[in-house]
Amino acid sequence: MRAKRIIANVLSFALCACSVSAASASAADSSTNTAPQNSSDNETTVVSTAAATSETAQTDDSESVITIKLGDVNGDDYIDAADASKVLSAYSKTSSGLSSGLSTKQTIAADVNMDGIIDAVDASSILSYYAYISTAVTVPRSIESYLKNMSEPKTTTAATTNVVTTTAAAATTSAASTVSTTLTTDSATTSTAPISTTATATTSEAAASSVTVSVTAEASTNVSVTGTTTAPATSADTTLSLTTVVTTETTTAITTDPNKVSAIKLSKTEISLNVGEGDISMVTMLPATADKTEKWKSSDESIATVNFEGWISAVSEGICTVTVQSASNPEITADIKVTVTDPTRVRELKLNKSEMIIPTGGQDLALVSMLPANAVNKGEIWISSDEDVATVSKEGLISGIAPGSCTVTVISKSNPDVKAEIKVKVTDPKQPLGIKLTKYEMDILAGTLDISFVNTLPDTAVPITEVWVSSDPGVASVDRWGNVYGVSEGSCIITVSSMDNPDIRADIQVKVHSKPVTTTTTTATTTTTSTTTTITTTATTSTYTVSDTSTAKTTTVSTTSAPVVSTAAEHLIQVHDGVTYIDGILIVNKTYSLPKDFAPGELSENTAENFVRLSSDARELGLNIVCTSGYRSYESQEQIYNNYAAADGVLKADTYSARAGHSEHQTGLAIDVNSISDDFIGTPECEWLAQNAHMYGFIIRYPKGKEEYTGFSYEPWHIRYVGEDTATKIYESGLSLEEYLGIDSCYR
Ligand code: DAL
Ligand code: ZN
Repeated sequence: MRAKRIIANVLSFALCACSVSAASASAADSSTNTAPQNSSDNETTVVSTAAATSETAQTDDSESVITIKLGDVNGDDYIDAADASKVLSAYSKTSSGLSSGLSTKQTIAADVNMDGIIDAVDASSILSYYAYISTAVTVPRSIESYLKNMSEPKTTTAATTNVVTTTAAAATTSAASTVSTTLTTDSATTSTAPISTTATATTSEAAASSVTVSVTAEASTNVSVTGTTTAPATSADTTLSLTTVVTTETTTAITTDPNKVSAIKLSKTEISLNVGEGDISMVTMLPATADKTEKWKSSDESIATVNFEGWISAVSEGICTVTVQSASNPEITADIKVTVTDPTRVRELKLNKSEMIIPTGGQDLALVSMLPANAVNKGEIWISSDEDVATVSKEGLISGIAPGSCTVTVISKSNPDVKAEIKVKVTDPKQPLGIKLTKYEMDILAGTLDISFVNTLPDTAVPITEVWVSSDPGVASVDRWGNVYGVSEGSCIITVSSMDNPDIRADIQVKVHSKPVTTTTTTATTTTTSTTTTITTTATTSTYTVSDTSTAKTTTVSTTSAPVVSTAAEHLIQVHDGVTYIDGILIVNKTYSLPKDFAPGELSENTAENFVRLSSDARELGLNIVCTSGYRSYESQEQIYNNYAAADGVLKADTYSARAGHSEHQTGLAIDVNSISDDFIGTPECEWLAQNAHMYGFIIRYPKGKEEYTGFSYEPWHIRYVGEDTATKIYESGLSLEEYLGIDSCYR
């Protein structure tokens, strides 16, 4: 048998005239019906060195020796998958009636089993050897030895221990000595026991520092041994006895049936598909001579199906296994992991909030968005972990039932694995959850005051204990009631927070401007006189100050020759720029109007300051009096009145709402407090306000029982700043302002 004559893993052969074809190559060509080699190839003669004694080499003077390494088809000195690939490529070509494409030298190297045929068996053998040398823990055997071992079943015999003792001459001049010895083992040995070999090296040099002993064994059996030991010299002129322990490797021979599939190789072992897509994994069954009929099966046809040719079709999202099985050898199978994804399935839920705090009886809406945007089924399911605490509607509206905590979860209907959660805390309705300010920005002059009123949220909550802080008291200071005083030009932030819960807080951006130099302006005025009585004075020159129109618009007005008409001797009526003053009191009612462009823009300084005092003092008494409506422009009043008129009709609206230009709110001198409804009537705040407002310069502008004078129904919440003296006089008189000034209030 030719294989037995190969003892080395190289072949040397002679080439005549450098171009001859191998006998074995010719055999391979003829057996696979390939086209005949050209004539020059036919002149090649090949012999192996091992066979040279029994086979005659055809040589002449010009012959040279070429070395062929069996299995190394591409000549790169490695036996690996690239060589197997070349063999398969050649086999594929010759199977199709084409030339193998291999040179003579490659043909010899490719026919590793030396059966004269270049086929898949050779490729498989090369791959098998490649796998072996890639993982071998000891020096691997040659491919010839390996294949021989594979093809010849062995009988395991008792382990034999071989001890080889070698005494080697020591190097005399070098610091290290190398000794080599060859271990000869019984050819029948398949022992897995360690084999010991001892080599002794003697050095004559005191400087010798180590001795290396190398042990190798020829792979003439299925025993592969090797060992190298380096030991330090212990002293000068020493003899070192080193024992190298080598282990044997036992290989169980595999007997293959050329008609039976022994292995299946797949081009892909994992496939990822979208629903509706398909793919295939190419199958190679080995050996090539076997019946290669395939059987295909899917582990879950609801996820992916596979047809008889191995075409895999994705059905629905999931993971399954597609298996190919050899029909000729059902034990041989190979699996493909198939992962199917549905790109239109919901992948992620996003909530607009992850936490929610709602009062008992309160509600909040959680908004959910689903990704991807083109998801087909965006249905959602909402669940509360504790419906005694909070319930949730199918639209995500969460209702606080009782104080406590729970989790509300939203789940995708199309993909129940996708969910998102909101931590819900339901609070006591009296517990403050936040605050709302009447203003978040202030633009004030140095030396003036402003205030932003605090409303606690929810409406049912008790008021917070306010803590007021200025970021820069050099710009604006703030007192414990929230009165903000402009100190010097600049900007700062005034913060109000709850003493009990600092998380409840709000900021006010404050800008303080330096006070401009006031110049006295003389405004030409048109004075309209209207008299129903007969006491007439002559025109006079008088100077008075309109100081209550706004904080920044204090104007000194001089009038000359303005006719003055009074309904009574003690009342002085003056009209300036369309605004009527009686005894210096700006008067607005159904009779007296304001021009459209009268727009101070905010409460007057005196009005604001005194209301702050009023509110603060009330608070000390446990009363909560806040401003709910202050300055209103002509346009906003027009809107308000029109809305009421549309709802109730003009006649009714005129009893409680002023037409544009007839509302005191346009003056910046009037404030509505608390609830602008009958709910306010009878409250402690209502009672206290009626009895004390005058001390802060305010009158109840539309008192009960005075509707025929004021022209408006009772409004205990509407207070008007007239100054403390006047307010006190009016309060003590028990009169309405109209009665006090001797005027009427009716639209004409
Ligand atoms: N409610 C008062 C009269 C106003 O509208 O000004
Ligand atoms: Zn009002």
